[in-house]
Amino acid sequence: MKVQYGNSHIELMQGDITLQRVDAIVNAANSDLIVGGGVDGAIHRAAGASVNEETSKRYPLGCPTGDAVASGPGDLPVKFIFHAVGPVWRGGRDGEPEQLRSAYRRCLELTIGYQCASIAFPAISTGIYGFPVDLAAENSLDETRAFLLSHPAALAVQFVLFDAGTYAAFARVLDGFAE
Ligand code: APR
Repeated sequence: MKVQYGNSHIELMQGDITLQRVDAIVNAANSDLIVGGGVDGAIHRAAGASVNEETSKRYPLGCPTGDAVASGPGDLPVKFIFHAVGPVWRGGRDGEPEQLRSAYRRCLELTIGYQCASIAFPAISTGIYGFPVDLAAENSLDETRAFLLSHPAALAVQFVLFDAGTYAAFARVLDGFAE
């Protein structure tokens, strides 16, 4: 599913983000930037040890929730990895939706800053961090759409969703925007 916003577009796909050939892929990291499971584990396994060595040196204090930091690609066929830290879901009254929006926004700002033309996102916070998928889809797609409509750059933004349920949730939301 692909939708045009200004000079840019959002494309949803189901698959493994480590296989995407884009300028930057986004990792769903933790604030200590310690290699975890989920997509974090998959990206570090595919990228190799150099990426975690780099982030440990460049970002000794880690990365705050809602922010993102850049590293090289290691062995991945991309230019950068943006390590984004989404919120742990605590019921929704602790600013989680805004923190999730902030994590996506920061990655899009890094995309511009590092002159990337394409970026692939996973569904940040919807796995180990427990963020409800429908609410995550609404907040992440709405934030991304708003960013694309307020920036002239022509960006190709992919959401690479690992399972059919998550893909369906994001497709429902994106389809709903078109109405
Ligand atoms: N490609 C794309 N998406 C993937 C992949 C993959 N190879 N592997 C997992 N996912 C999906 C999950 O199915 C989920 O939809 O990524 C989404 C985010 O889930 P998590 O990876 O668990 O990330 P998150 O919920 O943000 O939790 C972050 O988990 O791995 C640790 O170190 C990480 O502490 C941090 C926490």
